Amino acid sequence: MDHSEQQHLVNAPFYAEQAGEVALFEHAFRQRLPVLIKGPTGCGKTRFVEHMAARLGRPLVTVSCHDDLSAADLVGRHLIGEQGTVWADGPLARAVRSGAICYLDEVVEARKDTTVVLHPLADDRRVLPIERTGEQLVAPPGFMLVVSYNPGYQNLLKSLKPSTRQRFVALSFGYPAPELERPAVREVTRPDTREPRVALLGRPLLKALHKEGGGAWAQAQWRASSSLLADGISMDDLMGKVDAFHASEVMRPFRNFDAWPMSNAPAQAELTIRTSDEVQKMHKDPKALITDLLSALVIEATGPLMFGESAAPAGPVLWLNHDIIARQLNRLHG
Ligand SMILES: Nc1ncnc2c1ncn2[C@@H]1O[C@H](COP(=O)(O)OP(=O)(O)O)[C@@H](O)[C@H]1O
Ligand SMILES: [Mg+2]
Repeated sequence: MDHSEQQHLVNAPFYAEQAGEVALFEHAFRQRLPVLIKGPTGCGKTRFVEHMAARLGRPLVTVSCHDDLSAADLVGRHLIGEQGTVWADGPLARAVRSGAICYLDEVVEARKDTTVVLHPLADDRRVLPIERTGEQLVAPPGFMLVVSYNPGYQNLLKSLKPSTRQRFVALSFGYPAPELERPAVREVTRPDTREPRVALLGRPLLKALHKEGGGAWAQAQWRASSSLLADGISMDDLMGKVDAFHASEVMRPFRNFDAWPMSNAPAQAELTIRTSDEVQKMHKDPKALITDLLSALVIEATGPLMFGESAAPAGPVLWLNHDIIARQLNRLHG
């Protein structure tokens, strides 16, 4: 790292890395490849891109996407001014001209005209044709296209040509899972990003939803979860696997919550990763996991709980567990 890189790092907004995504992003930038980030809202996609832009010393142009974002919104349009019509660059054209990182934040719906514009920029031509002015903007080396989307909205992926899609370096973000696997109390902060993300199950949360009086809505979560499983695999199969993991000798010492915080142990890490892989294989699509669905629910519930508490705090720290989260969710959806 040379001096200017160090300076950039100092100025970059804080970002706690989860699993090598910083190096991957830097690699994509050097190779002039576009990046696709998938992850539920609040898991740090925007923060990551801001951090990376600062770190790489590139200006950042962020476009918050909405349903009917058109090509003209991105590329630009003619405006009628006092001197007649003038061309005004849209954010994408501005980013290409200035060699910035252009971040399309949470693309919800990819319209055809929008993907048409993105294709030649995302593939190895790296050009932005501006139809209205006849210009062909060639992206300088500093330009990079970054697109994020929520796993609930996969339209963008489907509408990209496979050849273009393959050029994207894909990153999948999730909330670190520990608060789902352990029926433990945790301080209300964001999830501890130092822990490895594993695809284990939120059995406690599903059970708690039921126990806390969850009705049709809680059952729908259960059905939604089971529909993610591979053919021939039942929720019971999956729960059995997770229970065996928690009940194992290796994991027992880690369930002594009085001894927290404690360091990970090699055998525990090995078993966790192996179980995680097995659980992932029990799903239809290794990228659509029950734990993602449940993570989104936890986040949905913790927001109102934290806000409610800050109005009338019961104590300096609010401890959350699955029962409290389930009660809140059932209240929201009951
Ligand atoms: N890995 C991380 N390191 C530091 N802060 C993070 C991280 N992930 C999330 N955050 C915090 O969570 C907040 C929400 O993250 P954000 O980037 O806006 O999520 P997203 O864009 O995925 O919806 C950020 O403002 C930041 O405070
Ligand atoms: Mg965001």
